[in-house]
Amino acid sequence: MDDETNILDQLVSRVADETLRSRLAREVELLRGSRRFGLVFDRHLPESVKLTDHPIRKGVRVSLRDESTVETWRVVSFADTTRTVAVLDGDGGERSVSDLVVVREFGEPIYPGLQSIERIQNGPADAPWHTVVNGENFHALQALRWTHRGKVDLIYIDPPYNTGNDGWIYNDRYIDNNDRAKSSKWLSFLERRLEIASSLLEPTGVIIVAIGDEEHHRLRMLLDQMFGPENFLSDVVWQGGRKNDSRYVSNGADYMLIYAKDELALAEREIRWREEKPGVHDVLVAAKVVWDEAEHDEQAAEAAMRKWFRAQPKDSPIKALGRYVYFLPDGTLCRDSDLMSPNPRPNLQYDILHPATGKPAVRHPNGWRWTRETMDRMLAEGHIIFRSDPSVPPRLKKPLEDAQGQVARSVFDRERTHAGRHLQNVFGDTRFPYPKDHEVLMRWIRLAAPKDAIVVDFFGGSGTTTEAVMRLNAEDGGTRQSILVTNNELGAREAKRLRNEGFHPGDPEWEPKGVFEYVCRPRISTVVTGTRPDGSKYSDGLAANVEMFRLTYLDPGRLRSGREYGPVAPLMWMEGGARGERVDEVPDDGWALTESYGVLFSIDALTPFANAVAKAAAGEAP
Ligand SMILES: C[S@@+](CC[C@H](N)C(=O)[O-])C[C@H]1O[C@@H](n2cnc3c(N)ncnc32)[C@H](O)[C@@H]1O
Repeated sequence: MDDETNILDQLVSRVADETLRSRLAREVELLRGSRRFGLVFDRHLPESVKLTDHPIRKGVRVSLRDESTVETWRVVSFADTTRTVAVLDGDGGERSVSDLVVVREFGEPIYPGLQSIERIQNGPADAPWHTVVNGENFHALQALRWTHRGKVDLIYIDPPYNTGNDGWIYNDRYIDNNDRAKSSKWLSFLERRLEIASSLLEPTGVIIVAIGDEEHHRLRMLLDQMFGPENFLSDVVWQGGRKNDSRYVSNGADYMLIYAKDELALAEREIRWREEKPGVHDVLVAAKVVWDEAEHDEQAAEAAMRKWFRAQPKDSPIKALGRYVYFLPDGTLCRDSDLMSPNPRPNLQYDILHPATGKPAVRHPNGWRWTRETMDRMLAEGHIIFRSDPSVPPRLKKPLEDAQGQVARSVFDRERTHAGRHLQNVFGDTRFPYPKDHEVLMRWIRLAAPKDAIVVDFFGGSGTTTEAVMRLNAEDGGTRQSILVTNNELGAREAKRLRNEGFHPGDPEWEPKGVFEYVCRPRISTVVTGTRPDGSKYSDGLAANVEMFRLTYLDPGRLRSGREYGPVAPLMWMEGGARGERVDEVPDDGWALTESYGVLFSIDALTPFANAVAKAAAGEAP
């Protein structure tokens, strides 16, 4: 169809020869169909992961431990009987085994497993366990696709921003501003992971991606392409203060792009995305005190409450909440709200009497919002307010707690340094330069996900998301469960220092300095137990259960012959909801059943297993 604002269409329409005109128009349409609109970028080579603890065997793919090249080879054979020198394919030649490390390229089949490294039970036995996985997130996501496909309510990620100096590693190389493919590598890196991540979301699920200025515009296009522009919910701006490193304009903003998996499905769910107005909590606390001091007398309490509001500072958000306040006979603090029906209906047109005049109160043109029966109950229970001026229609006393829900704003101010100070306080020293703010995260998790949500973060870093989920549960009694994945990367400077000293990933001098071992793991354990790694007291701890794992790569042969059940057990337990006991060993009977899941090890045990499942489903003892 031609478009009157399009130059090409205009020119075609001027062609006098009708046949030529229609042929040209057809060709233009065809061209349009093949035109690519959107984000175009080079897909980069698949990435790979180094398995530093895997033995060098015939047939495995290897690269150099010192990372002096990105090349990989297959081990063809060994040059000696003690297997200290490997013969590699292609131009690899012969290399000492101690210089090599096993690599797995993305796309090659892998068999993931989880090895438990720390288990902290500080919450109720029936509470869900939070899990933290140290490993390559691409493979961890593949494992989660098996255990959590379509089950996740919220994904929050804070990927490397690709600033050119943020220590982002693509295929073992720190990416800096000299890399001409910097952005397309970053997009390839993210696209691969987002593709799997999207399959984890349930239809009402939401993804929030934190991002800086550098890739914000490209990321939004990528997300539009992957999730659909119709599922875009918001582009949140977090103003974190001034940044003085720019020559022209200080952009201290950080962004969060928010998409729904399926906005239509989300819209049908219960209303979320509402939050308390600032100050409501303080007002409710004050109201409790006032109510008791007024000895539960409504009028005295209302007068005292108005006095309390008058005493608040002029610029406080509390001031705006104090215009009309009332108490219900049970001490609930209320503001007032309209009593008019949104649509006129005959059964809502009736008279109610003003108590002071004894005459019918001014009636709303559409009628009242309830039927006579409900209105009589609301009048009897003291929910209706009559003003002394009879020309003012009566109004409803609405609890302040329900009345103040407001849609979340997409712009907010919060000092960026707050999160760093918090982490410093957890450890008693400085360990991680740019954690996200757990209180900001708590706000967005509260808004975007239900109280029993499964929340996934696969760029977990210092573990902020796990802390936010645990604190939120402690605050509102929720049963949210967090699944966090992070690798054990080192900051670029520290990595360089260690490399200069001759150390590499996998070495005992290297691993304890990584973000998982040095920051995430001790942070989470400190926050839950309340005791720092050095034994000093940080807090009273949190009532939560958390287990930390290492992602492992299982041997397919051993797996097939049933000798690798141990590292698969946590995945099954996670699939069953990560609650209660876990079936960690193969039982002699060939089957096992817990309160939340069961495992059948041998088909011969099918009958007793099925009977036990049926009994459990009927609520009978096994
Ligand atoms: C920007 S930081 C996230 C910080 C985090 N939001 C916090 O508050 O601590 C990104 C983190 O992702 C981790 N990371 C980067 N690439 C990864 C990968 N391929 N697999 C797992 N983790 C990765 C890095 O170690 C880094 O700590």
